[in-house]
This record gives sequence, structure tokens and C-alpha cells, in this order.
Amino acid sequence: MSRIESEVGKPKGGLMKWIDDRFPFTETMKYHVTEYYASKNFNFWYVFGVLAFVVLIIQFLSGIFLTMNYKPSSAEAFASVEYIMRDVEWGWLIRYVHSTGASFFFIVVYLHMFRAMLYGSYKKPRELIWIIGMMIFFVLFAEAFAGYLLPWGQMSYWGAQVIISLFGAIPVVGDGIVEFIRGDYSISDITLNRFFAMHVIVLPLALIGLVFVHIVALHEVGSSNPDGIEIKKKKGSDGIPLDGVAFHPYHTSKDLVAIIIFLMLFCAVIFFAPEMGGYFLEHANFEPANLLATPEHIAPVWYFTPFYSILRAVPDKLWGAILMGGSVLLPMFLPWLDRSRVRSIRYRGWIYKSALTCFAISFIALGWLGTQPAEAVYVLAARFFGIIYFAFFLLMPYYTAIDKTKPVPDRVVYHG
Ligand code: HEM
Repeated sequence: MSRIESEVGKPKGGLMKWIDDRFPFTETMKYHVTEYYASKNFNFWYVFGVLAFVVLIIQFLSGIFLTMNYKPSSAEAFASVEYIMRDVEWGWLIRYVHSTGASFFFIVVYLHMFRAMLYGSYKKPRELIWIIGMMIFFVLFAEAFAGYLLPWGQMSYWGAQVIISLFGAIPVVGDGIVEFIRGDYSISDITLNRFFAMHVIVLPLALIGLVFVHIVALHEVGSSNPDGIEIKKKKGSDGIPLDGVAFHPYHTSKDLVAIIIFLMLFCAVIFFAPEMGGYFLEHANFEPANLLATPEHIAPVWYFTPFYSILRAVPDKLWGAILMGGSVLLPMFLPWLDRSRVRSIRYRGWIYKSALTCFAISFIALGWLGTQPAEAVYVLAARFFGIIYFAFFLLMPYYTAIDKTKPVPDRVVYHG
């Protein structure tokens, strides 16, 4: 007799029991929320995972409303965005929420990734969480790239032209790949249609799936902490980690404060600087795509520019594309490149601390240089910072092995 059949005819224990007999709701909530124990010493850096989740939801909701009025055709796309901005009720707000959300997504995700580098969150046993995170990052890149073509402005068109044509540098199959992506001999209505399908269906579905797996993998091994100590190794007689507190209500209440501050900043940008001086919405994209006039200076949106700088720093097109691809892929191998015995920056030596600082400076510098025109001095500077960027990863097995580390305490350091 099944569990449901055995209950037939007996007095019911409320709606919750009815659901639990058919779906493990309470059990799931306990496992992932009310009885998920995470370290009590989480700091500022630990809010960005939840904030990434918040932006994901904001992007889904605003995206749905944009799609209701957007026309994915080369003849109508630009005008339909203008129509949303001027005529649709609250259309300007919906569009600015979505365009600002794209930039905030990357700010939050870059900080979330940097946290992992500060505290060695990618190290054993969290390698898979990191790899899934990197997959989310790649899909996010594709999502932002596809989305940027949709308004069919000058930069949408020419930015896509530059990036898609890069595949043409691949020997033998390059031209075929370019044609396959565009679906045509040039970027056209057909390209716009397929990018729309990718942007609103394929990639968002992939994102949801990957984020789900990211959290399941995280909850399997448990969250790390700023000390890089495994809290599961020291449990009380009740089986609860001594340094752990239940995710709900302790971490949820802290996260709520972060969400409120984040939303205030988000609104400040939407209402006072939605274009962010051309960084969030580029000036050239307020002109409709013109297939006959190349803009004087083509630059992608800021979140792509660190990698775009590397592309431009290399004189050869194929090598430029290879190194740019390499710069995006390399972080994926961090769990194996980092040979330090400790996880957290708190217990690492001066070598890793200096290397990480140089990496952060080079990443920001490359990002800025990518927004500048391709003049000799900027290209030279991009080569310099590009070398630091690659050296950080490629020399890591060596310098993390010789770096002198400090002893890691038994229990997490917590100042209430
Ligand atoms: C949509 C994007 C993402 C969402 C919604 C998301 C969500 C989360 C959440 C809620 C957590 C737990 C809270 C925290 O530790 O901050 C987490 C942890 C983690 N995430 Fe992400 N994440 C995203 C992207 C990424 C990316 C791009 C990476 C790296 C490439 C990454 C790597 C990690 C790692 C290593 C942890 C474990 C941290 C630890 O336990 O110390 N995540 N993520």
C-alpha cells in the first residue's frame, strides 16, 4: 500500500501535511534553508551569490515585459525599442531596469568570482561548484552578447560584426562557422531572429538549469567561509557544526539588508544615470544600425572590455582570438592551478597577496583600455597588463607552492 493510499479515510493534518505526503516540501526546505548550516562568520563578500540570484529574477521579469512590445525584425526592432521608451506605459522604466540589470549582473558576478579567489572557494571539494559557475559565466556572456544585438543600433550591429567575424580566423572551418552563426552571408534579419530566440529561450533556460545545479552542488559539500575552514569537521552532540548557523533566519536576515542596499543603488542608477555616461548604454546605439557606415570607434559594453583589450593587443587576428578565448577559459582551471595548502587569503603569504592584487589591477586596467580607441599607447599598455593577467594564472602552480602560509586555526574567527 502506498503512503497516500494508507492515509485515505484518516483525519488530515492540514494543507502542509497534504502537500508533504505528495511532495517532499518540508524536507526540501529543511535541507536547503532552515537546517542548512553555514558558517557564522560570513562577511560582505558572501552576499553576491544571493544578489546574483536577485538580478537574475529582475532580468527575467523585465525581459518578459520587454518582449511583449519588442519586434524581432531588422525593419522594426529599433523603432519598437523607441516605442517602448516613449509610448508604452512605464516602458522606459522596464527598459532601463533591464539594461541596468545587465551591467549590475556582471558587477555582482565579477565580485562573486573575486570572493572565490580571495578565500579559495574553488579548492577541493568545491571544484564542481566553481566549474558550474564558470559555465554560468560563459552562458551569461552569450546572453549579454545576443541581447545587445536586439535594439539593432549602430553598436549592436557593428559589435556583433566584429565578434562574429573572429570565428572566420579559424583555419579551414572558420568561414563556415561564421555563416552558421549568422544564418546568412552578412548580419541580417535572420541573425536578429535567431539571436532573439537564443536570448529569450535557449540561454535563459540554460541559466536556470545551471544555477539550480550550482546550488545543489553547493549544498552537497556545504559553503566555505572567510577562514577556509571546513565547519563540518567540528560538530556538536546534536550533529550541528559548532561554527554553523541555520541559513534561515540568520543568513536570510543579513542577506535582506544587502538586497535592500543593492536595490537602492540599482534604483539610483536607473533614475539618475541609466546610460552611465555611455558605459551601460553606448551613445552610438541610439542611432539605428547602418550597414553602410562603420562607427569610428567600435567598443563592446564594459563587461566584455577586459577580454576585448587582449584581442586588440595581439597583431595577428587568429592569435588575438585564441588569446582572448584563453583569457576567458583560464580561470576555469584555478582549482588545479592553485597548489597552496590553505584556502583563504588570511593565511596565505605575501606572494599570493601581491599576485592577486596585480591580477585585480590588470583586470580593471584592461577593462578601461578596452573602452579606449586602438591607439599605440593603449595597445602597448594592454600588452603589459595582458602579460600580467596570463602570468597570474600560468605561474600560479609555481608561486602558490613556494608561498609561505600561516597556520590555519581550528575554529572560524568570529567577532560578534
Ligand atoms: C547567475 C549567476 C550565479 C548565481 C545566482 C550564483 C549563486 C550562488 C549562491 C547563492 C551561492 C551561495 C552564497 C555565496 O557563497 O555567495 C554561490 C556560491 C558559490 N558560487 Fe555562485 N552564483 C552565480 C555565478 C557564479 C559564477 C560565475 C561563479 C564562478 C565562476 C560562481 C562560483 C561560486 C562558488 C565557488 C561558490 C561557493 C562559495 C563558498 O562556499 O565559499 N558562481 N553562488
